[in-house]
Amino acid sequence: MTENTANTGLAHIGVVGLAVMGSNLARNFASRGHTVALYNRTYEKTAVLMHEHGADGNFIPSKSIEEFVASLERPRRAIIMVQAGPATDAVINQLAAAMEEGDIIIDGGNALYTDTVRREREISAKGLHFVGAGISGGEEGALNGPAIMPGGTKESYESLGPLLESISAVVDGTPCCTHIGPDGAGHFVKMVHNGIEYADMQVIGEAYHLLRYAAGMEPAEIADVFKEWNTGDLDSYLVEITSEVLSQVDAETGKPLIDVIVDAAGQKGTGRWTVKAALDLGIATTGIGEAVFARALSGARTQRAATIGNLPSGEVTTLEAQGVDKTQFVEDVRRALYASKLVAYAQGFDEIKAGSEEHEWDVDPRDLATIWRGGCIIRAKFLNRIKDAYDTNPEVESLLLDPYFKEEIEGLMDSWRRVVVLATQLGLPIPVFASSLSYYDSLRAERLPAALIQGQRDFFGAHTYERTDKPGKFHTQWSADRTEIEA
Ligand code: ATR
Repeated sequence: MTENTANTGLAHIGVVGLAVMGSNLARNFASRGHTVALYNRTYEKTAVLMHEHGADGNFIPSKSIEEFVASLERPRRAIIMVQAGPATDAVINQLAAAMEEGDIIIDGGNALYTDTVRREREISAKGLHFVGAGISGGEEGALNGPAIMPGGTKESYESLGPLLESISAVVDGTPCCTHIGPDGAGHFVKMVHNGIEYADMQVIGEAYHLLRYAAGMEPAEIADVFKEWNTGDLDSYLVEITSEVLSQVDAETGKPLIDVIVDAAGQKGTGRWTVKAALDLGIATTGIGEAVFARALSGARTQRAATIGNLPSGEVTTLEAQGVDKTQFVEDVRRALYASKLVAYAQGFDEIKAGSEEHEWDVDPRDLATIWRGGCIIRAKFLNRIKDAYDTNPEVESLLLDPYFKEEIEGLMDSWRRVVVLATQLGLPIPVFASSLSYYDSLRAERLPAALIQGQRDFFGAHTYERTDKPGKFHTQWSADRTEIEA
């Protein structure tokens, strides 16, 4: 129980919206000794929660928003866990109408950060605080310890932070929750976190696909490979659950479950938002982009029904025909996965840096590498390395330039290239492996074909170009005598 209010009988925090995430979060608060106010639009969910878990802690259920607000200690802190979009706006407005100056409204859903920026502006004009907080970890995380990324004012974090830190995951004694920055900063970094998650899942998927369809391994065998990988550089929640999924046998058919799951991936939108924001910011998040497109393509079921088996492959080969040793191939795939993952994370952090600069949020990337180590879906040992990289040089132009990662990539390079070439020769899709390698080669290239693009742009649209040998902007008079003029 928080010290200052131990005996007021009022709740320390309230949760509005008691679907799975909301009720698990409420239970998590209660399990840490906090008194939790509860409200859901329809009372049924509140009643179910009270019936099933009411005895697990101190809850104050309410049937109206006014009653709910009155049950909170001041400054009131209410976390909204309802559907993103209009439902969130509706609840914010109801709460704002019933609250008083200094109270804090927290949106714990996956809101689009631009909505959070707008809401913060509107709510702060009423003298209230509005905190957009990204919460990651799924249902299990919400109940036992998520990673939490709160935005909003520093002042609101002083009151709210200790409560959120008390329910978050903890790694090496550090809570996986910290103040990210003003207004939409928390939801922005949560969005990019989800984008990185898309890329991470896709590279794991590509590795699985190669082991299965290039090396001809069975799912159970591949499950063991992932289990083994989980003891090294790739140690992460996603690799761990991959092994679990691949070893699952379908009770109905006796087949590996993976073989009876339809290969059309769903998405709720945060990956797409990450790519849209990256496009607006001019940041090349190719890994996340390819991962989002890969899901879209997998889900284009009508198109695939027409194309599967109906498009020529050209001459494709096999590992045996290429004389590739299977053990070496498995290790090559692991390295290609790791290298592509490094690129995707580097790109995600680039986007966060660009977003932070654009919105003047002053987000510290070290904070993210720290709090993402636990609770969230992309939690991984490897995040410690990212933190170290930013500790070494907070201004590093790309994580790929960090001495540790540079050395790692050097050791992965040959395998990565071999896998991309082989997969292409075998006719197997590897959108993130391949695009990450192209991105990497682009970053280190002395010359890019962009010079030609500038020439073309100048030719058809007089868009001008810069010269390598002197400052200024120039135009070649293409349709006249082709002499160059300074623009
Ligand atoms: P989950 O994915 O965890 O199931 P969700 O679909 O994101 O949750 O959100 C569902 C919650 O939003 C429910 O608590 C729902 O309230 P009801 O139980 O009354 O349906 C709440 N919700 C949806 N629209 C709402 C609105 N317009 N006003 C208030 N709450 C709303």
